[in-house]
Amino acid sequence: MVGKILVIDDEKDMLLLIERIITDETAHEVTTESDPVKALELFESQPFDLVISDLKMPKIGGIALLEKIKKMNPKVSVIMMTAYATIDTAVEATRKGAHDYISKPFKRERILVTIEQVMKWQKMLKENDTLREALADQNCFSSLIGSTPVMKEIFERIRQVSPTMGTVLITGASGTGKELVAKAIHRHSQRCTRKLITINCTAIPENVLESELFGHIKGAFTGAWKDKKGLVEEAHEGTLFLDEIGDLSLLMQTKLLRLLQEGEYKPVGSVTTKKADLRFIAATNCNLKTAIKEKTFREDLYYRLNVINFELPSLNERKQDIPILSHHFLKKYARLYQKDIREISPEAMQAIMSNDFPGNVRELENTIERGVIYCRTQMLEVKDLFLENEDIDLQSDLSSDFTRLTFHEAKDRVTHMFHKQYIESLLRENAGNVSKAAEKAGIKRQYLHRLMKDVDIDGNSIRSLSGQNKKK
Ligand SMILES: Nc1ncnc2c1ncn2[C@@H]1O[C@H](COP(=O)(O)OP(=O)(O)OP(=O)(O)O)[C@@H](O)[C@H]1O
Ligand SMILES: [Mg+2]
Repeated sequence: MVGKILVIDDEKDMLLLIERIITDETAHEVTTESDPVKALELFESQPFDLVISDLKMPKIGGIALLEKIKKMNPKVSVIMMTAYATIDTAVEATRKGAHDYISKPFKRERILVTIEQVMKWQKMLKENDTLREALADQNCFSSLIGSTPVMKEIFERIRQVSPTMGTVLITGASGTGKELVAKAIHRHSQRCTRKLITINCTAIPENVLESELFGHIKGAFTGAWKDKKGLVEEAHEGTLFLDEIGDLSLLMQTKLLRLLQEGEYKPVGSVTTKKADLRFIAATNCNLKTAIKEKTFREDLYYRLNVINFELPSLNERKQDIPILSHHFLKKYARLYQKDIREISPEAMQAIMSNDFPGNVRELENTIERGVIYCRTQMLEVKDLFLENEDIDLQSDLSSDFTRLTFHEAKDRVTHMFHKQYIESLLRENAGNVSKAAEKAGIKRQYLHRLMKDVDIDGNSIRSLSGQNKKK
């Protein structure tokens, strides 16, 4: 980047020297000024990327000048110089926002290196501004973010299908944004003034789920001491979002099919049929076609649901979206944790880009949130993200024939190993209490349930193990 530099020093020889160094060795444009008051006027009238200023000057002292400059343009970088360098003034200058501090006399290299660092930083700031502007307009739909063609296409299709009554099936791996898409469809439909009711089909026992969905009448079962409305009734004239539909039992699938086909259902224990006016959206990360083959999912229900299909891409398939997503999450969590973190360092962004996110956008979001928690400066750095540590731990556990596997096999193995190790420790630490463990890990309880299933971890056995440990 070719930048604009303003040099301020009451010693004219110094101005000449710095001007010569800059014009001889760099392509940057340089302006010099020996009067700090005139320098401020100059600064007001034209944009500069960098100000190099002496600390001790008549009329206005360097620190006061620094404050004024930063007030006019907080993004400009300032380098202070002085022959009377003390730690105290250096600290004060950096605290007031100076980028760096140089003692006179200095070597050519010292000032050149600092200028290049500043220009790199300025370039990044400008790129981030462009990103932010992009974020603000077309790369955002409802709360969905994406600038890649595949996401743009999804936004466009949401616009098209939302106003219709068509049943929607959203498929895609965990953390790809299925729930967000469901919400966006509801928000852009004519039913948006009515409710969007979500029912999570995972980890709810069948009998509970049925009464949750359809309600029950007084005396239907022990404990049913009065009539209770179900979610279907609550969603009347609105949208019913059936999340994790792949986990629904066959019996419930049959009852749901009736609701979809006829718009009818019966509360538990009731003989009278009720009617509901609903728009259905379902989501799953299971492969329903395989489930149909394995006879765990009804084919007729599948075709009823799959009128309009959204197949959400994994984050790996849209890596170019990682920077805007990361900045979006940075802003979100910086605000939440009330931290003044403005940027992601280029190195950190590179590390994020080359990281694999099997948990997709959710995992990226968690990574940035963790980074914001650990970050102590205005810029998120690689060390705040804790990406490498996880790799190292896992790597030490990998077997020696690792590279004989294909990339996908190896990746699956690492992901599996990570899930297993993480979840086992997590559950142990929380005495097998899934809800507590999920809260600690910052994931949904249902998601933890599913991960546990994937890696064959049984909550009960961990609970009894922790119980035994306690007894010992
Ligand atoms: N395109 C996106 N833009 C912004 N945030 C996103 C996007 N996709 C996902 N997220 C965020 O990632 C997290 C996971 O999204 P969501 O719950 O919609 O995923 P999901 O596909 O339903 O996952 P699961 O299968 O595990 O239920 C949420 O915090 C969501 O806000
Ligand atoms: Mg979901």
